[in-house]
Amino acid sequence: MRNIVLVSLFLLFNIHTTVMASAPVWGKTGHRVTAQVAEKYLTPVARQKVKALLKGKSLALVSTFGDDIKSDDRFRKYSPWHYVNYPLNKEYEDQRPSDQGDIVQGIAKCVAVLEDPKASDADKEFFLKMLVHFIGDLHQPMHIGKAEDKGGNDIQVRWFSEGSNLHRVWDSNMIDEFQMSYTELSNNLPVLTPDMTNNISRGDYKDWMRETRQLTKEVYASARIGEKLGYRYMYDHFGEVRMQLLKGGIRLAAMLNDIFDPTSAK
Ligand code: ADE
Ligand code: ZN
Ligand code: ZN
Repeated sequence: MRNIVLVSLFLLFNIHTTVMASAPVWGKTGHRVTAQVAEKYLTPVARQKVKALLKGKSLALVSTFGDDIKSDDRFRKYSPWHYVNYPLNKEYEDQRPSDQGDIVQGIAKCVAVLEDPKASDADKEFFLKMLVHFIGDLHQPMHIGKAEDKGGNDIQVRWFSEGSNLHRVWDSNMIDEFQMSYTELSNNLPVLTPDMTNNISRGDYKDWMRETRQLTKEVYASARIGEKLGYRYMYDHFGEVRMQLLKGGIRLAAMLNDIFDPTSAK
């Protein structure tokens, strides 16, 4: 009997970790970096309102919430909100919007709740946490992917000596290989002039998605199925990862400033 219990526990644990390991997520570090950057660019008014809704929790802490709830059946319907797939030679607007929702519809819902004076604080907290997460995903090029390979999840490659796929290389393999904590990495992003920062924060999230899409095309062309990627791939692409993390943070702050401090200068 004791053995059966032990074996069952072992199996359960392994199935659990296998499912977690294969979950398609912009890794925790990436989300936290973007959130940490955003914190720096909030206006004092927006910062105070965000802090109140999150009951003192940091943006970095709540940035992984969108992934943490994925295995909970009650939140299953939000899984398709982390990404959108469509053909590389098409625009998002050319597609019929998915009935399941996608990252564009997800972000729109978050903004609508946060701007609704009648929404409860509990709903606002939930959709604020989701927004922090989705603006990170919006800057991971493989979250604006092609349907037939699930945004690169089905493109198997080797990462150094381990099995991986092109989606995961961009979610977490490169960031983990860099071996900086999220605070270290957020303090070691590209240095921008105020003009560059202003330019990055211009536009809306659909413009930002269109920009990410240009990188998506480059990523699809960057590796062949089964290819072994490592130092050379890091050298060629980690600069782009750092820039995407920084852009995500600046733009998340721009959205939160718009929502919570609309009179602040753009
Ligand atoms: N599942 C299917 N397509 C996906 C994508 N582009 N990103 C993350 N998960 C997905
Ligand atoms: Zn992902
Ligand atoms: Zn996600």
